[in-house]
Amino acid sequence: MIVTNPTVAALYLPRLRAALATRYARLLSVELPDGEEHKHWQTLNLIFDALLNNGCDRRTTVYALGGGVVGDIAGFAAASFMRGVPYVQVPTTLLSQVDSSVGGKTAINHPLGKNLIGAFHQPLRVVCDLDVLTSLPDRELRAGLAEVVKYGAIADWTFFEWIESHATALLVRDVDALAHAVQRSCEIKAAVVAQDERESDLRAVLNFGHTFGHAIEAGLGFGNWLHGEAVAAGMVLGAALSVKLGLIDPAVSERLVALLSKLGLPTKVPALGADRYLSLMRLDKKAVSREIRFVVLTGRGEAALRPAPDAVVREVIEMHVA
Ligand SMILES: NC(=O)c1ccc[n+]([C@@H]2O[C@H](COP(=O)([O-])OP(=O)(O)OC[C@H]3O[C@@H](n4cnc5c(N)ncnc54)[C@H](O)[C@@H]3O)[C@@H](O)[C@H]2O)c1
Ligand SMILES: [Zn+2]
Repeated sequence: MIVTNPTVAALYLPRLRAALATRYARLLSVELPDGEEHKHWQTLNLIFDALLNNGCDRRTTVYALGGGVVGDIAGFAAASFMRGVPYVQVPTTLLSQVDSSVGGKTAINHPLGKNLIGAFHQPLRVVCDLDVLTSLPDRELRAGLAEVVKYGAIADWTFFEWIESHATALLVRDVDALAHAVQRSCEIKAAVVAQDERESDLRAVLNFGHTFGHAIEAGLGFGNWLHGEAVAAGMVLGAALSVKLGLIDPAVSERLVALLSKLGLPTKVPALGADRYLSLMRLDKKAVSREIRFVVLTGRGEAALRPAPDAVVREVIEMHVA
């Protein structure tokens, strides 16, 4: 069962079907409505309808062909259909190639917050084909680069500096630059996930920028800002918080802001009001008993999880309103 959406199906479904034709007795596909605003249980149910109406069983393999939205919903469907069937990720956005397809987190959104309903379920395989990135809109490419920058900032300062010096090559989709970005990102993610698959603590560093970012996405309404854009602005706040807490030199934060601006990503947050940000962030999955824990930078290419006083968080938000 290939799960995709109309945008991606028009571009790549025939090719995936052709590639899989000899492997399976039967190939089915289902198209979900396109967009983050559809990443909820009604859309998930379309997959179960398609599986059940076609008599699928535990021997069925699910293929997710699309970006992170398709991958997250299809992965969750695979995790729960008949208590779990195998699935393969075929990510078609830069963001999904460097991040969401790897690591086995699957989820849908709840009106109260991002990715609050989901499961851990590892894909059998992840196939990143760089050729599909040629059809990606520029705005989506830049959103994916936000997650690439994240890996450098939290885990590998040499990689961060490589991104600084290859920013233009990445923006013009130089294939060697993209290949290195995808490979190094997946290596870093896989190494972190291998040490902490179920996110006790260590894996949470992959969420740098996401506590603020998810609040932007939920606060503005899903689909308004792209996930990667919200993460970019969220990382700026995360770095500013790290400076305020005395954990990093302001120069680290300045370089991050400069790199994100060069990549055409937002470095300011929408004016939702600090109270609204705080109440949205208390629903974050990293919060414990409603105490928000933030991923902070503790050095060049180093991160950790820390609580922070509300007053400091407020100040950081207010300093960065667009
Ligand atoms: N599971 C995880 O660990 C994890 C990690 C990061 C992000 N995510 C999730 O991923 C989602 C964001 O993923 P995304 O940025 O890929 O967004 P997306 O899935 O919405 O894709 C972006 C847009 O690009 C289109 N598209 C996809 N491939 C294309 C191609 N090759 N050419 C032209 N258009 C194409 C899509 O149809 C869509 O309109 C968010 O919901 C986020 O929460 C999950
Ligand atoms: Zn992300």
